[in-house]
Parts: sequence; structure tokens; C-alpha cells
Amino acid sequence: MDKAEAKREIERLAKEIDYHNDLYYQQSKSEISDYEFDQLLSKLITLEEEHPEFKAADSPTQRVGGTITKSFDTVVHRYPMLSLSNTYSEEELRDFDGRVTKLLDTSEYEYLCELKFDGVAISLTYENGLLTRAVTRGDGTKGDDITANARTIRSLPLKIAKDDLPSIFEVRGEVFMPRSVFSNLNKSRAENGEELLANPRNTASGTLKMQDSSIVASRKLDCFLYSLMGEDLEYPTHQASIKKLEDWGFNVSPTYQACNTIDEVLTYISSWEIKRQELPLDTDGIVIKVNRLDQQEELGFTAKSPRWAIAFKYKAENALTRLNSVTYQVGRTGAITPVAELEPVLLAGTTVKRASLHNANEIERLDLHHGDSVYVEKGGEIIPKVTGVDDTQRKQDAQPIRYIAKCPACGTPLIRIEGEAVHYCPNSQNCPPQVQGRIEHFISRNAMNIESLGPETIKGLLSNGLIQNAADLYKLTFEQLNGLKLEVENQATGEVKSRSLKEKSAQNIIDSIERSKSMPFANVLFGLGIRYVGRTVAEKLTEHFQTIECLKEASHEALIEAPEIGDRIAESVIDYFSSEDNLTITASLGTYGLKLAVEETKNQPASDALDGKSFVVSGVFENYGRDDLKALVKSHGGKIVSSVSAKLDFLLAGNKMGPAKLEKAEKLDIRILSIEEFESMISHND
Ligand code: IVH
Repeated sequence: MDKAEAKREIERLAKEIDYHNDLYYQQSKSEISDYEFDQLLSKLITLEEEHPEFKAADSPTQRVGGTITKSFDTVVHRYPMLSLSNTYSEEELRDFDGRVTKLLDTSEYEYLCELKFDGVAISLTYENGLLTRAVTRGDGTKGDDITANARTIRSLPLKIAKDDLPSIFEVRGEVFMPRSVFSNLNKSRAENGEELLANPRNTASGTLKMQDSSIVASRKLDCFLYSLMGEDLEYPTHQASIKKLEDWGFNVSPTYQACNTIDEVLTYISSWEIKRQELPLDTDGIVIKVNRLDQQEELGFTAKSPRWAIAFKYKAENALTRLNSVTYQVGRTGAITPVAELEPVLLAGTTVKRASLHNANEIERLDLHHGDSVYVEKGGEIIPKVTGVDDTQRKQDAQPIRYIAKCPACGTPLIRIEGEAVHYCPNSQNCPPQVQGRIEHFISRNAMNIESLGPETIKGLLSNGLIQNAADLYKLTFEQLNGLKLEVENQATGEVKSRSLKEKSAQNIIDSIERSKSMPFANVLFGLGIRYVGRTVAEKLTEHFQTIECLKEASHEALIEAPEIGDRIAESVIDYFSSEDNLTITASLGTYGLKLAVEETKNQPASDALDGKSFVVSGVFENYGRDDLKALVKSHGGKIVSSVSAKLDFLLAGNKMGPAKLEKAEKLDIRILSIEEFESMISHND
């Protein structure tokens, strides 16, 4: 590709990506899959790397990060970032309203109410339509320049093309991590044996301060904007200015409402008290703002906060109850989690019997004693937590909770790694919950996907001595499974019932174990449950080392040479393969026919039936994953391209493909293939 072509292609790709971004974030629609979108982006990244001179300041590749910031520059805010004073009751709110009436000397004013988003305040500067700077609140006067990280937030416009834009303006809002993103992040951290993150707010805040913006991009932060500032802006009300923000493509939460009286404000407050749980992010109150900007100006500021606005904070959903005991759970990596067993109490509509205590430090911080009256709170997390103790109710002879020294499941003395808060049981091979947890992980969806096996069956197999580890699953016979006695515990009552495995279930298990043998090497490696080796890391390792033999023998230096592998993962991999038991398990997995190397077909062409022909694969296929089809195209000598253009040879079309793509292909007279036509093209040469 010559320079002129590269420039054109970069511009075209940027435009296409901007189009899909806009469709997705402004109109909640999509014409292409996430995978196809990523393909477009990676194509643009490659081209920009080859031709940095053509990379535009507002290129959508900024979204994927890649900038490393060693230390963030301090920036003085053009307008200080003040805070709001808080109120907690109707009375305080009426007092505020009284002050507003008095200072304005009229009751002719209205409020604009918004949710108070529990995230991280940010200030964004746009110059000539381009996002030029993003700064944290800091101490209110100066903050950190986190522009590269903010640019990865997909819903933030990097460039705005509107006729009515001021040449320079500032937008303020709250960056947050959606609750669903937070819980997925923690789920995968739990799977990798990593410490869990406390709540979405702290995670968003920590993420914005990360040095590597590509990690920030993977964290999927979002942002709600609630304020527009600048010189000579002529909007009559706050509402008009946030409507302008909406019009310019900013993500403004549609939850705001104008209220004529403080009674209407109170109705708004109570209407959101429960409903706010359905929002994608945590909120901790309502912000009430005088709507007219001239009246805001008249009211002015105190040293710390505006007189024209106030926050009303909802009471955190908490309850006081008795701590009956502390129990300890053992995870698959041996990590111990203390759990508070509580006298059942009603909290935010559900009965709570257990709450998380995180780790030994937390028990110490709370100075927890047996029988204490404890406060439990429902925050952003699903599991409630113990947040405090009412020690006035403590009996004089109450004994402090002493953290256990031995594993509750197998009695092995616990260890604590220096610098870590968590205790571990080191008896990884024989501690029952660790063995069970590892097998559950091995059969999970992103690993071997043996869907018909459940935790109770695994328990039954272990207790009957039919298996000792994941590899033993491949020795099981139908006869062993058929009629196997299982114990099923009713979670609510704790009652245990006995049942036996039916013939059909036994056959399903045998079939899905057999099917799992075709899972790619990366799934097997992930399934081994090596600490810090999540699904993505497993993929990076298998791509780099190709076989388990090479991985097993890799030195620390060799491991950290692989993309995205750091010291911690390298140490964990070495540690795993230094155990005889683990070596025996991986060797037996090989003898049962599991894939312990990257498929050779990836590297050796199956035929040249599609030699040089370009393909777009789109839609859903009954018997193939899209990635499998792309691999098939490549293995027969074809090329995969991401978008339909006049140069494209074939569009391989599945069900539910985007109508725009189909239309474009038809217009350009591209040959559209059904899966059957494709199969016959590649089968001639087989
Ligand atoms: S307006 C003068 N509106 O609350 C400050 N703030 O204590 C004007 N916040 O630092 C801020 N949601 O981080 C405003 N809808 C909202 C908000 C909001 C959350 C945060 C913001 C600010 C803090 C004020």
C-alpha cells in the first residue's frame, strides 16, 4: 500500500469506526458484531503504527489506549471544582429552600433535580470541538491530567461537529464503572485467585489513575455529564445547558427532572429511593440545583460550595443485627474468606443471613467480638458487608474473634504471603473444597465446558472415590455414573436429601466429557486453574509457546517475553509446573486426548482452494463459530477482511447478519455465499 492509499484507508477506517461508535453509543444500535468492530480497530491501529504521520488527534484508536503515563501532570482548574453541602432530612432540605427564597427575595424559581452519581468527578475541556484535556478533581483547585485514560471511555465524544459549539468549553461529570462490569471483573478475579475489588467507585478511581491506558480501555468505564461551563455561554437554565450537552452527543442521564416546589423535590427524592437500584451505576443521593443560571449567579458560592445547589443523601441501606459466628470458606486456590453468620435481618427487601468480612485485617479493624451487634450494609456489591459494630451493646466478658490458624476443611496450618491480606491453605492437592473447586473450574464454560456436570455430581464422584482430580473425569464410565448416589442440600433450609443419577443424565455427562476433548489448548490451560492465568492470559501463553512442553520448560525470562505476561504470572506458572502432582495431571490429560498444543491446521494450510480470495464472515452459523470459519478460510489459503468493499471477493453470510452489510454487498455486486456453498468450495480439494 503506498502512502496515499494508506492515508485514504486510515481516514476511511476512522470514519467507519466513528460511525459504528456513534450508532452504538448515541443510538444504542449496532450493525456489526463486537468482533468485527475490534477487527476494524486493530486494522486501523496497525496502519497508524506503520504511518504515524497520518494518525489524527481524534482517531478512534485512542479508545483502545496504549499510552503509558509515567506520572500525571498537575493541572490548575480554570474554574475550581467545588463540592456540595449535604442534607439528610426533609427538614434540612426545607431549610435550604427557605434560604434560597430569602436570598432571591422571591418564590419564583424552579429546581432541577438529578441523581447523585457515585463515581469520580472529572473535568473535560473541548477546544474547537476536540477533547483536549481531562482532569480529575484533585483538591478542587488542581487535579491530575488523565487525558489518555479518559479518551478510552467509549461514550465520551473525542470530536464534536456541531455549528453551535463554543470555541472552548468545559464539561463536568462523573466517571463510573457500571455495576455489571464491576461484578464481571470481580468474577474473573475470583476465578484467577486474585483479591477482590471493594466497590465500583474505588475501582473506577483506581482505573483512571492507571499508567497503561490499554488496561483502562479494557475496564469499560462510562461517564455521565451534568455540567457545562465556559465564557459567554448563553443558556437561560441549567436544564437548557444539559440539553445542549445531549444534543452534542454527551451521555447525560435521562433521570433529571424540573420541580416547581420543594414538595415536588421531595416526591422526586422518594420516587428514586428504590428505583435507583435499577440504574446501571451506584447512586448515593439526589442533587438539587436552582434551574435559572441568572438566579444561580445571584445566589453565588460560599468558600466551599454553591448556595444554589445541595445534595440530599439517602441513608445507606443498613441494619443492626447479631453476629452469631464467623465461618471460613476455602476457595479453589486455597484462599480463605471469613463470613459473618448473622441473626436473619431484613435489608432492602431481602433477608440477610450472611455478610462478607473480606479478610483478617477487616476483622481486626472492626475489633469484632462474639455476639456483637453489627451493622450490615448493602453497597454496590451483591453480598452485604459488615460495616461497623455497636460496641455499647457488647457484653463485658465477650471474647474477641480470633482468626483461625488451621484450614477449616483439612486442618492444615494456614499461611499468609507477605504483603497480602488473605490467608491460604497450602494443602492444595488434598484439601476437599480446593479439589472440588478446581474441578468445578475445569468444567466451567470458558474452560472445558462440560455443561451437564454440576457441583453435586462432582461431590458425589469425589466422595465415592471415582475421581480424585479433573483428569480422572476422562476415565469415568457410563456404568459408574448410572444410579450414582448424590446428596443434595436445600440452600434455604440446610436439609440434605439423597437422590440417584438417572440413565439419561449419566449418558449426557459421558457425551459432554467426550466432546470436551476437542476444546482448544487455551481452554485446557485456563481450566488447569493456575493462579492469575485467566482466559485471556491462557490465550496469550498458548499463542506464544504453542505447546505445553514449551510452556512447562519456559524460564522466568522466557515467560515475561511473551506479550502481556509479567513477573507475577511468570512466577505462578513456574510454581504450578514445579509440582509433581500437577505434572502427573497434565500428562494424563494428554493421554486422554486433550489438546495440549495449538492446532497445527492454524499454521499449515489445509488446501489452496481459496488462494488469495478475500472473505467477510458475518452473521450466526448453526454448526460453526465465526472464529472457526475464519480459521477455516485462512487454512485454505483465503484472507479475512473486516469490511465489505468493492475489492471483496466473497461475503460468507449466516443468519441474523446486519442488513446494512448485506445491502452494501448486493450494491457492490459481491458474491454472497451460503454456508453450504462455502463447504463445497473447500471440500473439492480435501
Ligand atoms: S453538581 C459545585 N451534579 O458530587 C459542585 N455533582 O459533592 C457541583 N456528583 O464533586 C456538582 N452527581 O463528583 C453535581 N448530578 C450531579 C452529581 C454530582 C455526583 C458529585 C460530584 C461532586 C460531588 C459534590
